[in-house]
Amino acid sequence: MSGEKIVQMIRSSVIEDASSVDLDSAYGPSGYRGLFRCSNIFLYSLFASLGGFLFGYDQGVISGVLVMHDFEARFPRIGGNGDLQGWVVSIMQLGAFIGALINSPIADRLSRRYSIAVACVAFLIGSVLQAGAIDNSMLFVGRFIGGIGLGQISMGVPLWIGEIAPPNLRGSAVTLQQFAIASGIMTSFWLDYGTQYIGGIGEGQSQLAWRLPFALRVVPAATLLVGCFFFLPFSPRWLVKVGREHEALEVLSRLRKLPENHPIVQAEIMQIKVGARFDALTIKEKFPNAKSPAQIAYQQYKELFTQRHLARRLFVACFLQFLQQFTGVNAIIYYAPKMFKSIGLSGNSISLLATGVVGIINVVATIPAIGIVDNFGRRGVLMVGAIFMSLSHFIIATLYAIYEHSWAEHLSAGWAAAAFVWFFVFHFAYSVGCIAWIYPTEIFPLGVRAQAMGIAISVNWISNFVIGLITPIMLSQIKFGTFYFFFAFTMVLFFWVMFFLPETKGVPMEEMDKLWGGNEGKETAERMARIQNELQSESRNVPIYSKASSYSDDVDIELQEQY
Ligand code: BGC
Repeated sequence: MSGEKIVQMIRSSVIEDASSVDLDSAYGPSGYRGLFRCSNIFLYSLFASLGGFLFGYDQGVISGVLVMHDFEARFPRIGGNGDLQGWVVSIMQLGAFIGALINSPIADRLSRRYSIAVACVAFLIGSVLQAGAIDNSMLFVGRFIGGIGLGQISMGVPLWIGEIAPPNLRGSAVTLQQFAIASGIMTSFWLDYGTQYIGGIGEGQSQLAWRLPFALRVVPAATLLVGCFFFLPFSPRWLVKVGREHEALEVLSRLRKLPENHPIVQAEIMQIKVGARFDALTIKEKFPNAKSPAQIAYQQYKELFTQRHLARRLFVACFLQFLQQFTGVNAIIYYAPKMFKSIGLSGNSISLLATGVVGIINVVATIPAIGIVDNFGRRGVLMVGAIFMSLSHFIIATLYAIYEHSWAEHLSAGWAAAAFVWFFVFHFAYSVGCIAWIYPTEIFPLGVRAQAMGIAISVNWISNFVIGLITPIMLSQIKFGTFYFFFAFTMVLFFWVMFFLPETKGVPMEEMDKLWGGNEGKETAERMARIQNELQSESRNVPIYSKASSYSDDVDIELQEQY
């Protein structure tokens, strides 16, 4: 029997063969029906998605604040057209880039759950500094520290959600975070819009007009912080990783709303354990001299780049994040008022309103995604989204090229361009907006998952930073070419997905190896077998498994025979 076959049998047959249930149908339906049935997964994911809300809110809040009268008067080098404006915007993204990277060791040592709590503390400090800012440096420091928290959150929340969700709901549950990001962007936009009237929009404007939107973030951040301690459970996968297997079983049984000795729970915990042991043993056997956590972490990072199947997954996660940003979504989110003005939608309120519509469409279009990513699959949704995003960019660019100097006489062309901006946002929101977050959470083995996600999400932030930097330059230098530029990347997204991206819908995390060609050799099979033996004797000795002894023994004996 080939090594590959043995490995696959051990990794997947734990569930498929040993359990008398058909696991695919046993997990139940996906999409909204599934979320409704697994209401606890839905509630936990929705609650953790408060992190996504903070992400969107923080991204969105600054643009409205920068143009408020009182803010401009107090911070002349930052507000209006101040020379430090670009930096105050982008320092948050740089902080987030760092935050995503440093969250990997935190999520591995402290747990996924408490890494979100740490992030909330950083975010709260940043928010207080910004809301109370009396000089430029307070604002800069506040945005940088808040950015670190935000980067951590943007990595920690999907990581946690991905690890608690069953395979049939993983995509939908992670998509809730994109829904929350979009809601955060929309809320901050309309909030800025409203608070600018406190004291009037001119001379008499109160400082509350901008301090309030900065300060209000404290409410969701503090709620999430408290929830990390009193509401959210530990990730069962993290518990297994750190050897707290008994607790992992308890949590998993609570999450699946099934007794601990239920075949599904037993099969899933076994599957997680095999995967975790395998990862830990691999490191131990391959790097016997790596003793301290730092040395082990170093080897794990190294493996990510040097092991072909891991490097392939890393590339996919990072490239997806990169392409998500290079669809140009943030060019629109950051610069929409400017764009709408330049295509002839004159008057502040018209361009602002057009921007407000972007925010609403962005939220609304995420709602169907929650129902479809686990049903139709990631690839199909991505390709449909990519085609329509390309079409939008192409039409906007062409209209721009034709009417560049005569928008005023062709108002309908301006409105058509605006409609295609909205059309673009719609197709972004349900496709790569959501799916770019799903892949990094699900394709990596537990041993390197946090490290890999940290790298992938930091690519999101650094690309976000680059887009923020180059868009105004492109809009003024190559004008309509800006949209052809983004058109090119959306086409790359389409073809890359079509030819290279594997489908991950419904695949249990511990079975992802099958898709990436990892862990196939004879040597690997032998290691797997040793793990299997270990687990076998443990499950005989540990009382919690004796509760389900008939089931567990069946699993073990069958696997032993197979091997
Ligand atoms: C992206 C953000 C973007 C947002 C728009 C997210 O998935 O990562 O950069 O602003 O979607 O909804």
